[in-house]
Amino acid sequence: MTDIGRKPITKAVFPVAGMGTRFLPATKAIPKEMLPIVDRPLIQYAVEEAYAAGIREMIFVTGRHKRSIEDHFDTAFELEHELELANKHQMLEMVRSVKPDDMQCVYVRQPKAMGLGHAILCAESLVGNEFFAVLLADDLMVGKRPILQQMVDVHHQTGGSVMATQDVPKAQTFRYGILDVKGDKQQTAKIYGMVEKPDPEEAPSTLAVAGRYVLSPSVFNKIRTQPRGVGGEIQLTDGIAALLMEEDVYSYRYDGKRYDCGSKEGYIQATIDMALEREDLAAYTRAHIERIR
Ligand code: UTP
Repeated sequence: MTDIGRKPITKAVFPVAGMGTRFLPATKAIPKEMLPIVDRPLIQYAVEEAYAAGIREMIFVTGRHKRSIEDHFDTAFELEHELELANKHQMLEMVRSVKPDDMQCVYVRQPKAMGLGHAILCAESLVGNEFFAVLLADDLMVGKRPILQQMVDVHHQTGGSVMATQDVPKAQTFRYGILDVKGDKQQTAKIYGMVEKPDPEEAPSTLAVAGRYVLSPSVFNKIRTQPRGVGGEIQLTDGIAALLMEEDVYSYRYDGKRYDCGSKEGYIQATIDMALEREDLAAYTRAHIERIR
């Protein structure tokens, strides 16, 4: 294990510069990561997950719609003042808790949506030479123990990069990055190869990549020097595929659930499940489901 593999993970990168075309027209003027699940935007769930894993420096790779995300994690003086005047202390606390005092937010711009790999590369100078986390906020991930915390633990055990993975039906492999691993059934397994969106007959396994990563800084060099991948985009999976030729990269079957909120179906499921989890909304939501059944 290298020395940098033993240090705590202190930085998380949130790529939020995608076009979000599947959610147009909602995403015409706001990033899809600002779409709410019940009453919290997707990006807030992801930031809270990173915070729970001990990370305090949040790096957002933004695109055209940078403003709403910056505003969300900034102090809202006028709103806070109004809530104070109205004696709405609980609400005031909730608004303030979006950005705890010990959390730092920094923003870097991806000039054009050239792919997830390119977005990550935009954060290189802010990350520096240390392992870092990547969270795709449109994958809402919930578990008894926060998913990123589980992955940070695996990183500390192995010293390598870690990708969150889940088993998918064989017929669905064409929708995911699919991994080639030895020890197919283990929770943590070394990755030997990966393929982006393979047809079921060509898929090396049914182990699919989900939107959480702990990555070695060597991945930046790999992304920089790789040719453009599928759709002319600079893909993160190509960078990681090059990385695993030289360094250990592990697949980790997380304990928990993933909602693909980049798709309408996943977004609806997440909204219903999150409402059912809420003390103030569970009874109403359940009754409504019963009514329409
Ligand atoms: P997706 O491919 O799911 O997002 O990227 P998209 O392109 O915005 O969505 P659709 O398919 O058009 O609806 C996964 C993550 O990577 C970010 C996105 O914001 C999302 O969080 N991303 C993607 C970037 O930051 N930059 C890019 O160039 C591409």
